[in-house]
Amino acid sequence: MRVAVLSGGRSSEHDISLLSAEAVAEGLDTAGHDVIRITIGKSGAWIHDGHPVEVRPGEGLAVAGDLLSLDAVFPVLHGPFGEDGVTQGALDTAGLPYVGSDVLSSAVCMDKLTLKRLCGFHGIPQVGFVQAFTPGWEEEALALEFPLWVKPSRLGSSVGISKVTDPADLAAAVDEAAKFDPRVIIEANSAGREIECSVLGNEDPEASLPGEILTDDEWYDYEAKYTEGRTTIAAPAELDDATTAAVRDLATRVFTMAGCSGLARCDFFVEQPDTGNATGDPGATSGQTRVLLNEINTMPGFTRTSVYAKLWEATGLNYPDLCNRLVELAIDRHQSEQEHSF
Ligand SMILES: Nc1ncnc2c1ncn2[C@@H]1O[C@H](COP(=O)(O)OP(=O)(O)O)[C@@H](O)[C@H]1O
Ligand SMILES: [Mg+2]
Repeated sequence: MRVAVLSGGRSSEHDISLLSAEAVAEGLDTAGHDVIRITIGKSGAWIHDGHPVEVRPGEGLAVAGDLLSLDAVFPVLHGPFGEDGVTQGALDTAGLPYVGSDVLSSAVCMDKLTLKRLCGFHGIPQVGFVQAFTPGWEEEALALEFPLWVKPSRLGSSVGISKVTDPADLAAAVDEAAKFDPRVIIEANSAGREIECSVLGNEDPEASLPGEILTDDEWYDYEAKYTEGRTTIAAPAELDDATTAAVRDLATRVFTMAGCSGLARCDFFVEQPDTGNATGDPGATSGQTRVLLNEINTMPGFTRTSVYAKLWEATGLNYPDLCNRLVELAIDRHQSEQEHSF
């Protein structure tokens, strides 16, 4: 098959995307596919081989006046404009099959506030939260137990996030997050272990073995994520069988609940009797293991050593096969969408 790999993009995760996309291109090549590399600059321009790429509604993508013959597109883009439904909408407009979640699911998972409200509706365990700048938000936030986490609702890579231990610092943390996004979320703390799980599939998704983020840093901030040696991933995580099963089950449930397709990495806090209880959840009892959803990433870091791929490797699926499977899933989804009238 001929697969266009989109890389870069307008978000602060541009450079991470370039690394992920290069690995995906190699993986697809190893799996026997032809790869067309398209790089999206920080300005948002799409470039192939030095030429601008045109998105032609109803036709596909064209370069230097010629329509590219493509079987699928793999948008290896992280963060705003790439992972939030914007690029997915352009690919739908062009009429091309693409890897990963559709417009709605990408947008829902990118927005921490919307995802948390959906999870609340479905009774998925999570920390308590408040949306800044809504009526009464300050009193509500101060009523949560400190420390609090203040975040731009639609970003990634820990950019703009503060951990607030002193109520006097709350306003400054909210202002900082609002520099990145007018939608700001304030969350209660979880003292749980950071456990992540890779999900693959469409209607009947499968979950990998869970992994654990082990960092010497105080939390999993930008430096811990991208500085060599600051963080290690235990793949698989050391968890008892019941907790492993609970994480895998919740991962596929939230994937389906959020309408995801293809892939997602579902991130959890696992609270055990010795690490504390769920905050903001009236059902929390001490002495019981609880799995709380933190977030869903619809296009997680995708190098060979990224958590997403490492967990599949640990589960018995190698990197080229993983890339290949994702292209098949993209084509399957596109075909089943053609069966609907609208
Ligand atoms: N409610 C919370 N309780 C404890 N730690 C948190 C909480 N929220 C975020 N963190 C820490 O901050 C990191 C980044 O937060 P996250 O919501 O995953 O944002 P991003 O989308 O940038 O990855 C987490 O991996 C964790 O280390
Ligand atoms: Mg995260």
